Amino acid sequence: MKVRLHNPRPNRVCCAAMLQLAPESRWRLRPGTPADLDNLLALERAAFTTDRLSVRSLRRFVASPNAALIVAEEAGLAGYALVLFRPRSPVARLYSIAVAPRIAGRGVGAALLAAAEEAARRRGCDRMRLEVHVQNAAALNRYRKSGYRQFGCYRDYYDDGGDALRFEKRLAPPSPQRKNFASPDLTIAR
Ligand SMILES: CC(C)(COP(=O)(O)OP(=O)(O)OC[C@H]1O[C@@H](n2cnc3c(N)ncnc32)[C@H](O)[C@@H]1OP(=O)(O)O)[C@@H](O)C(=O)NCCC(=O)NCCS
Repeated sequence: MKVRLHNPRPNRVCCAAMLQLAPESRWRLRPGTPADLDNLLALERAAFTTDRLSVRSLRRFVASPNAALIVAEEAGLAGYALVLFRPRSPVARLYSIAVAPRIAGRGVGAALLAAAEEAARRRGCDRMRLEVHVQNAAALNRYRKSGYRQFGCYRDYYDDGGDALRFEKRLAPPSPQRKNFASPDLTIAR
């Protein structure tokens, strides 16, 4: 059920911009750190039934300059988004995104997705791509509402034999003034 690369070979990490919500908002976005690993692993278990990321992979992604791992916090870990970059490629890939079931449907997914797109723009990418399980209604809803369009399909892609739909979104150039990409209250602290 998750966003997956066929052959991910990340070897560097992007330093994602620190993203914060105004005080009245309930969650906060920031770059993930090694201290988040235990909670990320627990979230993987809670959010996915198949194709889970291992702690080894998560550790590698947190440390890689070719990845941006953004976490959302609200009374603990509320969600994360993981974007991968390839050197000299204008296409970023949303490799995984998950929101804790306790906070699902409250816009954390939209905020993480917008933050992932902003991280991609800041790396010079003009497109975001992802794969999603054909039966993952919540994720399909989220991606379509966030402007993603289907452009392909991988048959038998997931551990359960399900097909992956391939989605893409064109990203506008980064703006230093950009504030309103997920919530009117979202600001970027550099
Ligand atoms: C996909 C996911 C990250 C979305 O996170 P979220 O915080 O719940 O998302 P949002 O609240 O921003 O938006 C979800 C949208 O889908 C809708 N939605 C939520 N659950 C739904 C469901 N079961 N079926 C259909 N639509 C659903 C919501 O109403 C919302 O629409 P809205 O913006 O019009 O209100 C979350 O459902 C999740 O972690 N799922 C498990 C992991 C996963 O599948 N990741 C994606 C891999 S491709």
